[in-house]
Amino acid sequence: MNLMDVVGLMTSLSPRESVDAVLTASARSTNLYGHGLGMIASENIISPNVKRAINTDLHGRYAEGLPGKRYYQGCDDFDTIEDIGINLAKKVFRANFANIQSISGTVSNIGALKALAKPGDSITAVSTADGGHISHARMGAVGVRDLNVSTYPWNEERMEPDIDASCALIREIQPRITLVGQSVFLFPTPLKELADAAHEVGSTVMYDGAHVLGLIAGGVFQDPLREGADVMTGSSHKTFPGPQGGFLLSSSEDEAFHRRLNNAMFPGVCSSYHLHHVAGKVVAMAEFEAFGQAYATDIVRNAKKFGESLASEGFDVLAESRGYTASHQVLTRHGDIDSGAGAVAAKRLEEAGIITNMNMLPGDTKAMNPSGLRLGVQELTRVGMGVNEMAEVASLYARILIHDEDPKSVREDVKHLKSDFQYVQYCFDSESMPAYEGM
Ligand SMILES: Cc1ncc(COP(=O)(O)O)c(C=O)c1O
Repeated sequence: MNLMDVVGLMTSLSPRESVDAVLTASARSTNLYGHGLGMIASENIISPNVKRAINTDLHGRYAEGLPGKRYYQGCDDFDTIEDIGINLAKKVFRANFANIQSISGTVSNIGALKALAKPGDSITAVSTADGGHISHARMGAVGVRDLNVSTYPWNEERMEPDIDASCALIREIQPRITLVGQSVFLFPTPLKELADAAHEVGSTVMYDGAHVLGLIAGGVFQDPLREGADVMTGSSHKTFPGPQGGFLLSSSEDEAFHRRLNNAMFPGVCSSYHLHHVAGKVVAMAEFEAFGQAYATDIVRNAKKFGESLASEGFDVLAESRGYTASHQVLTRHGDIDSGAGAVAAKRLEEAGIITNMNMLPGDTKAMNPSGLRLGVQELTRVGMGVNEMAEVASLYARILIHDEDPKSVREDVKHLKSDFQYVQYCFDSESMPAYEGM
């Protein structure tokens, strides 16, 4: 139940009541995930030391510019943090350039688009209907930069751009930017072929790794900066398990190009860049250096097992011919195109404490009435669930969505399963702080 239904005071809260309502709602949300199964593919939880790093005085400070070249005093210690972070980002993502200031994946994209193109230029991208992100479309960042977008023909069977037709499109349009990467991201993009076509016509290749950044850093998905991407953007809080924020990375060794990328971030699209989150990102990168390869490997293994288990429970899981997934995501179809069956399934799961999101699948045209679900296992993996638990979670889905059991009766079993997984793994000092509690 929504908290407002409980307090019933939508318009008449006193200042004190508003404070209490916010704190109560935050605690309830924490409780929901602590006792439930967080399976939204774009989310994750942070480690105890990342929590410590973001809960400092840095949350209120400014540091415009780059380490050693600031517009304000008082930045010496933060310079140390950002310097460590830039070096770690180059190492962890195997990049020649890293800017770690971006406050989100979308802001990283706006910055990259600003550095790489002028208003009126053209860009190619995956359509939102095929899983591209809104920031790749005219309604989002691409529109903010006033770029003309053409979308790749899509291979539904393989769930990736139709390579021959997409290369032909790139050669015909000669876009300023060839943008690849999606929000629905089951398999690595055949990047080399697209990058060859792009570079042939002088286009810059931008890879949006928001979702799969942790898998890339862990060496289990693809290696965009060695497969032809000139620039890679991403979020710091999806499969890469840091606080909310973004990265801007490049394979280029050209210092003038690095300056363009840095300038696009500041003064381009950030002034304050949330220094506490930068500190958290740096801790997350250090922990990733130590534990990330194992984490990324386990995510993909769990996702494959989850896809197989759902299929054997009787679900229609997409991309069967390719083993369902090579990432953290699994897609399921719950009814006809545009039927809204995905929305109904997501609501029933939520009643059982399983948090997912409805998603458009190939053929769907209505974002609010899609036929599918997009499911991510990165958070469950992070609290230590393995392949046995993936099979168990699939059977909970089946009880709710196939055998029509009352979700409320399944909720107790969800809670029981989750009770054994209350600490973030793949990090230092795991048991020093429970995963789902504040600081
Ligand atoms: C492919 C892609 N790019 C960019 C973003 C935006 O990331 P953020 O939410 O960090 O702004 C997302 C978000 O899910 C995404 O899926």
